[in-house]
Amino acid sequence: MSDILKLKEEYLKKLSENISLENINQIKSELFGKNGKITNEFKKISNISADEKKKFASEVNSAKDEIQTAIEKKIKDFEIEQINSKLQSEKVDVTLPERSFVQGKIHPVSQVIDEISSIFSEIGFSVEEGPDVENEYNNFTALNTPDNHPARDMHDTFYLDHKKEFLLRTHTSPVQVRTMLKGKPPFKIIAPGRTYRSDSDQTHAPMFHQVEGLHIDKNINMGHLKGCLNHFIKEFFEVEKIKMRFRPSHFPFTEPSAEVDIGYELKDGKIIIGEGDKWLEILGCGMVHPNVLKNVKVNTSKYQGYAFGIGIDRLAMLKYGINDLRAFFDTDYRWISHFGFDPLDVPSNYRGLSR
Ligand code: DAH
Repeated sequence: MSDILKLKEEYLKKLSENISLENINQIKSELFGKNGKITNEFKKISNISADEKKKFASEVNSAKDEIQTAIEKKIKDFEIEQINSKLQSEKVDVTLPERSFVQGKIHPVSQVIDEISSIFSEIGFSVEEGPDVENEYNNFTALNTPDNHPARDMHDTFYLDHKKEFLLRTHTSPVQVRTMLKGKPPFKIIAPGRTYRSDSDQTHAPMFHQVEGLHIDKNINMGHLKGCLNHFIKEFFEVEKIKMRFRPSHFPFTEPSAEVDIGYELKDGKIIIGEGDKWLEILGCGMVHPNVLKNVKVNTSKYQGYAFGIGIDRLAMLKYGINDLRAFFDTDYRWISHFGFDPLDVPSNYRGLSR
């Protein structure tokens, strides 16, 4: 037997034994490395006499091929073995009981914002947003609020600098200003969001929520305002009939201005909306003051309209029987699991706005 054949037999035997991946790599370098045994055989070919060359070369080549095939197969076997042992050790037992998890709830304020947005969007209002940090101009000056107005007082407003240029918006009305400054009439928008005042008791929190409404077009009058609010209140409280009254009031940004009360009665400690002879104030509104329209470059000889501002937290408390406003913002998990809403439990008057 030639040396080559002996070498081949020897290594094929080694490769058929139970060896490690390390051994295989060792064999590879022994045979095919720079000074490897097979490599050296190849080097000999050029020095061999012409009549022996063919036989020699074919022996070396087939030794190389057979050994390489055996090595590849051995490596494949290793990989399969590894996968099999992984499958064994990482087996998932699908019969185990699921891990318990806590499902989140929708906060009543978010729920009510969704409900309000969907009711107004059905009658043509789009939703606008503004920042919580406002400048003095949008929050007061553009809204025709004079320098000596009590709302500007430090006792009421959280200013963010000594010059009183920036503040936490005290109402959502500056979104009216932003909307009109960036667009052209007609405008028909609502703007829900957070608002801030220096106030805290059972029915007031330093941070609360409002939704602003604004409708500016040709020939819009107080009749439209009344119709719109009437529709909203009925839809929101899911009642057929509502008792509603406009009480004359004053806001610098509207003329005339009104506050709106709705009728209610107490039955077994529960508030029934739309019946009875008690009145509850729920919003402020009016026809937008011409000075406001001028400040935002709306032509007052062509356009006019109404605006309103509703306290969202108050509406949520009324609709869902919550009696302390401060609980809204306490982040008490027991409270939210009681008063919160299941994300998959769609309320009857919900019209499909995405959360
Ligand atoms: N911004 C008022 C407030 O916070 C509410 C309000 C009243 C908004 C009348 C309006 C409005 O747009 O027309 O008390």
